[in-house]
Amino acid sequence: MSIVVTGASGKLGRHVVEQLLEKVPAEQVTAVVRSPEKVAGLAERGVRVAVADYNAPETFDGLFAAGDRVLLVSGNEFDKGRVRQHSVVIDAAKAAGVALLAYTSAPGSLTAALADDHRGTEQALLDSGVPYVLLRNGWYHENYTENLAPVLEHDAVVAAAGEGRVSSASRADYAAAAVTVLTGDGHENATYELGGDEAWSFAEYAAELSRQTGREIAYHPVTPEALTDILAGAGVPEPVAAVLAGVDAAIAKGELVVDSGDLSRLAGRPTTPLSEAVAAALKD
Ligand SMILES: NC(=O)c1ccc[n+]([C@@H]2O[C@H](COP(=O)([O-])OP(=O)(O)OC[C@H]3O[C@@H](n4cnc5c(N)ncnc54)[C@H](OP(=O)(O)O)[C@@H]3O)[C@@H](O)[C@H]2O)c1
Repeated sequence: MSIVVTGASGKLGRHVVEQLLEKVPAEQVTAVVRSPEKVAGLAERGVRVAVADYNAPETFDGLFAAGDRVLLVSGNEFDKGRVRQHSVVIDAAKAAGVALLAYTSAPGSLTAALADDHRGTEQALLDSGVPYVLLRNGWYHENYTENLAPVLEHDAVVAAAGEGRVSSASRADYAAAAVTVLTGDGHENATYELGGDEAWSFAEYAAELSRQTGREIAYHPVTPEALTDILAGAGVPEPVAAVLAGVDAAIAKGELVVDSGDLSRLAGRPTTPLSEAVAAALKD
């Protein structure tokens, strides 16, 4: 029996594997990746590295074993039919008789188009009969703090979120919740609504950036249509820009405030404050 993490070469997957290695021996961990060279260091530390692609069902043949606990990290290829991709993993997990399949989903409150693939995958997982955990991850701090260059260039936070608030948390926080589920008992068929302990507005985010940089950074609210144009003008493919603007519109409606407390409960500690993520990003 192994704890298997897909998307292990990604930013969230790497956090999960690192935190797993603090709790279980490396030989009990399997990292599923498309490009093994991205995780060469993990293989050297004794982690089993398996090569598979959500687009190629045959690559999952024999990858899982009965009793495995699996984390399916949602993919990022929006144009390739993510529900079909994720179903490849679910089907293979079912055929093997895994003990648990946890899926990184999106908050139940999120109605934006971005959530459609997550709802479709959740349904496929429920229909499969495999013991599941829905990790309905809220927003990452890093969605913002890893994209500070244009903010610092223009001294402006531009968003279409109005006065809406977001209860984001760091990837490391969501990883900690996943590790608790993968290594603990009693999570079968649970749905967790995961978000940071404190919600913030974009005006407050701009104020925090001002405080930490010593500059005057202001929030410039725009319409979703204007944001789509700005992102497309910056080279983001138009359909993706529209999806991202749709997320901001959802934030304006309060759909990315998750106040269940599930994340800090599963992580066993308070979630990382936004100010810490800002400080870490400004140090880089
Ligand atoms: N909650 C949020 O705020 C938020 C924000 C952004 C994304 N997300 C979702 O959360 C997921 C994890 O976040 P992240 O920051 O770790 O994203 P990331 O760094 O882009 O990682 C995505 C992972 O998925 C893997 N992947 C993509 N397509 C695949 C395929 N066809 N077959 C096998 N593996 C595939 C990637 O493999 P490669 O390394 O080979 O590309 C990578 O390991 C994202 O993929 C996305 O679905 C959530």
